[in-house]
Amino acid sequence: MTPADAEAVSALLRHSWERTYTPLMGAEKVAAQNESKHGAQSLVADLARPHSESFVASTENGTVAGYAYAIVTKGVLWLDRLHVAPEHQGSGIADGLLQAVMVNYVGEPSISLEVIEGNNRAMRFYEKHGFDVVERKSACGSIDGVPAIVMRRPLSRA
Ligand SMILES: CC(C)(COP(=O)(O)OP(=O)(O)OC[C@H]1O[C@@H](n2cnc3c(N)ncnc32)[C@H](O)[C@@H]1OP(=O)(O)O)[C@@H](O)C(=O)NCCC(=O)NCCS
Repeated sequence: MTPADAEAVSALLRHSWERTYTPLMGAEKVAAQNESKHGAQSLVADLARPHSESFVASTENGTVAGYAYAIVTKGVLWLDRLHVAPEHQGSGIADGLLQAVMVNYVGEPSISLEVIEGNNRAMRFYEKHGFDVVERKSACGSIDGVPAIVMRRPLSRA
């Protein structure tokens, strides 16, 4: 991802949050997250965060179809965001983005993520890719009252 992708990624991310999480956490919490974290400027700032990497998947005509963001925090690699536009889900784009993240971080022992309880499609996707449930939490990141599941899988050493 480069700063030139930020507006398109912001639109994808906002729409994906509205569509996926409104039924699970309500419109107010979704709007607050979109406001504070998913604007184009915020995504450009994320590009410069140490130990992080942002990826986009584009179609042949240059449309942004998917986005992934990963970061190492306190020695743990987190897949913080993985979003594929609805019309491109089931196409393999998510597999490609996950693969890009894992290749980028070869040498890290494992990759972890939080998935909001009830996001069954995402859970199924991660299980398919070798992630196991390791913890259940009453809050997802900084979002109070939204239960989350921590999943993890080992990473190849070479
Ligand atoms: C999560 C996401 C990246 C996965 O990408 P994808 O292209 O949809 O993934 P796939 O189609 O390869 O895999 C999803 C699996 O869930 C299954 N699935 C589809 N709808 C489902 C549902 N309602 N409940 C449970 N499983 C479902 C699919 O059949 C598939 O499993 P299969 O390959 O065994 O048939 C994508 O759905 C997405 O962007 N979702 C919205 C954002 C999101 O939730 N991101 C994850 C944040 S943790």
